[in-house]
Amino acid sequence: MSLFKITFLAFLSVVSSEFLWKHHNNEELQLVLEEIHEKCPNVTRVYALTEPSVRNVPLYVIEFSDSPGFHQPYKPEVKYVGNIHGNEVLGRELLLGLADYLCNQYLNHDRRIRTLIHNTRIHLLPAMNPDGWQLSTDTGAQDYLIGRNNNHSVDLNRNFPDLDAITFEFERQGISHNNHLLKDLTRLAAPLEPETRAVMRWMMAVPFVLSAALHGGDLVANYPYDESRSGAPVSEYSASPDDDTFRELAMTYAEAHADMADPKRTGCPVSNTDSSTSYNFGKQGGVTNGAAWYSLKGGMQDFSYLATNAFEVTLELGCKKYPPAEELEREWHRNREALLEFISKAHVGVKGIVSDDSGFIQNAIISVVNITGPVPRPIRHDVTTAAYGDYYRLLTPGHYEVTASHPGYFPVSRVVTVPHHQTVAKILNFKLEPTTSWFDDYTTFGLYPYGLRDGQPRIYKRSIYEQVTNMFLDKKETPKQ
Ligand SMILES: *[C@@H]1O[C@H](CO)[C@@H](O)[C@H](O)[C@H]1NC(C)=O
Ligand SMILES: *[C@@H]1O[C@H](CO)[C@@H](O)[C@H](O)[C@H]1NC(C)=O
Ligand SMILES: *[C@@H]1O[C@H](CO)[C@@H](O)[C@H](O)[C@H]1NC(C)=O
Ligand SMILES: [Zn+2]
Repeated sequence: MSLFKITFLAFLSVVSSEFLWKHHNNEELQLVLEEIHEKCPNVTRVYALTEPSVRNVPLYVIEFSDSPGFHQPYKPEVKYVGNIHGNEVLGRELLLGLADYLCNQYLNHDRRIRTLIHNTRIHLLPAMNPDGWQLSTDTGAQDYLIGRNNNHSVDLNRNFPDLDAITFEFERQGISHNNHLLKDLTRLAAPLEPETRAVMRWMMAVPFVLSAALHGGDLVANYPYDESRSGAPVSEYSASPDDDTFRELAMTYAEAHADMADPKRTGCPVSNTDSSTSYNFGKQGGVTNGAAWYSLKGGMQDFSYLATNAFEVTLELGCKKYPPAEELEREWHRNREALLEFISKAHVGVKGIVSDDSGFIQNAIISVVNITGPVPRPIRHDVTTAAYGDYYRLLTPGHYEVTASHPGYFPVSRVVTVPHHQTVAKILNFKLEPTTSWFDDYTTFGLYPYGLRDGQPRIYKRSIYEQVTNMFLDKKETPKQ
């Protein structure tokens, strides 16, 4: 009897932890995540965002890390967000499958997955819009629009603060400030939905570096900006300062996907897509700039880039928004490599720690000038350091001058080469000197006019960009003298 019981229980636990490719409802979604956590307790954590959906469904996240719950220096954070449109469900199931795969492969000592989890903190939010999923599912799962919005009939991917408007206005005024723009927002166009607020708080709380939102209705990797500068509804390329990097991120997904980047594949039928101008994106490598397709305001992707340090792209995973359950496993095989490759892109470019004599400097500014070509080209989008003074600056291969600055310190610049085929970001640390030790202390400054104090040479290397700019200004000013 007891033997039977043990066998029976063992059988039960095997059955319950076997991941099935099917459409998981909102209760099952939570159970799947908790089962994965039970299987891989050392490298996972399941948590809910600060606020539930309108219909009170918690927004569950599973995190993979060798220090679940904690940010660590030099370890970039990545997120995937699925099912933001409730009737676009493939991303939701793929993220559950990805979570199960990461856990299993970790347990199987898969070297690639172990390395990924040891060096990256990965957060998966399978469903941002569980209420829309429910409505879509209850009404036959086939409608092009029903269930897209949340339970207040709001499209969550139009509900984020429109920071593009701010950055475009700054551009017109010649102001180069283009990061953490939430503080420059004076009013909201529409009230924030609970799902939007929850995700915004999450984005502000975790120092994400890389992110993707998973949609359906077409097959293309879409990168910022989503909003056109002129207001044109379609076909206006809207480049961000990190256009090269974004294109490379999008291409990483497209090229690792079974056929997203295949020029010979067929396009999606017009009636299926979000825009009036359906196009076979395979012909252009499976990627598109957002506004070059169609312009939208209030999207999560542009908000992420303009409010936080995270570079986000939007992945349209297929023509069918709600594919039948029989197709899910096949879709997993078509997307698996792309999902993994994209996460590993958090390790391109440079990263490092900014500190002074007494410790880490949080919120230091990292600015970059591209010195690959003959003319230095500033990339007008700075990133900032996190709690351990750590920063992550995604970049394409090339030569760069990176400057760390913070009010009260002398800025320091260093030149770095980002190689091709990186698996680990180049490490570039900065030690900053407070300006007070120079200017407030006249005696010290006066005694050591050559920049020597305590026997230590003081090196303040001025930015090459600054030097070039000054040279240019000097030339312009020469006639006046
Ligand atoms: C979790 O870590 C503990 C302590 O290092 C170890 O004994 C245990 O086997 C690990 N569990 C799994 C499932 O890896
Ligand atoms: C809100 O949810 C309820 C219960 O699921 C549903 O009956 C109603 O149609 C939903 N409303 C909208 C606008 O989605
Ligand atoms: C820097 O410039 C080079 C040459 O123009 C280019 O290939 C590279 O993508 C640029 N990097 C970034 C991040 O824009
Ligand atoms: Zn969508």
